[in-house]
Amino acid sequence: MTQIKRIVILTGAGISAESGIDTFRSAGGLWEQHRVEDVATPEGFARNPDLVLNFYDMRRAALADVVPNAAHMALARLQREFAGEVLLVTQNVDDLHERGGSGQVLHMHGELKSALCTACGTRSRWEGAMIERPPCPVCAAPCLRPDVVWFGEMPYEMGRIYQALEACDLFVSIGTSGAVYPAAGFVEEARRAGARTLELNLEPSEGSRLFHESRLGKASVIVPEWVEEVLGG
Ligand code: OAD
Repeated sequence: MTQIKRIVILTGAGISAESGIDTFRSAGGLWEQHRVEDVATPEGFARNPDLVLNFYDMRRAALADVVPNAAHMALARLQREFAGEVLLVTQNVDDLHERGGSGQVLHMHGELKSALCTACGTRSRWEGAMIERPPCPVCAAPCLRPDVVWFGEMPYEMGRIYQALEACDLFVSIGTSGAVYPAAGFVEEARRAGARTLELNLEPSEGSRLFHESRLGKASVIVPEWVEEVLGG
């Protein structure tokens, strides 16, 4: 481990599962309870904005009832103590990495606690509900939507992420099924750059065979173990 200087970490819903946030594709997960086309596409929002605003208002409010787990905290420790660079990229829209102590987190699929104004395009920190059509803090138009990337939309920070993948020597994927692109393609991008690749997940992901190494188990156990190994090694 001593020669590793630049690490890129990708996290998904599995890292927050033990904090009590439903994953998407597990039995009883979010995509069994709700139709993706209804709550996670621009077309669904245009068809029934109340349904969509309510869905994200509930998910935002539910953040008050959960706390970060040992995996979030271990990654924050890695960011603080690792001598090289650690870029933390998450597909999650929750704020558990930040509350676990991570300073810099790239939320490629947006954030529940952010509002996007469809009138002026500004992204604003947002804690409350949107269902009553509150005014945008910048232009005052009653045009806020959840600042969450829906299917068919472009994820955030892609330039920065691909740049980091090209330069990294270790890519680690944690708690993600590998079912959604572009994130599912990061492992191949990192391999092209010559990086070592590691998967930490409860079960083998869809792209499991693309990784040099796969460690299976609960994030709250295997992530702190791996961090200990990197910092101690
Ligand atoms: P998924 O629900 O697709 O996958 C979660 C993964 O975490 C699965 O492979 C589980 O086996 C694993 N997992 C569950 N519990 C775990 C635990 N305690 N420890 C470790 N791993 C665990 O969630 P994502 O891969 O994050 O996008 O989904 C990717 C994207 O699909 C989401 O960001 C979202 C969704 O549609 C958008 O909404 C745009």
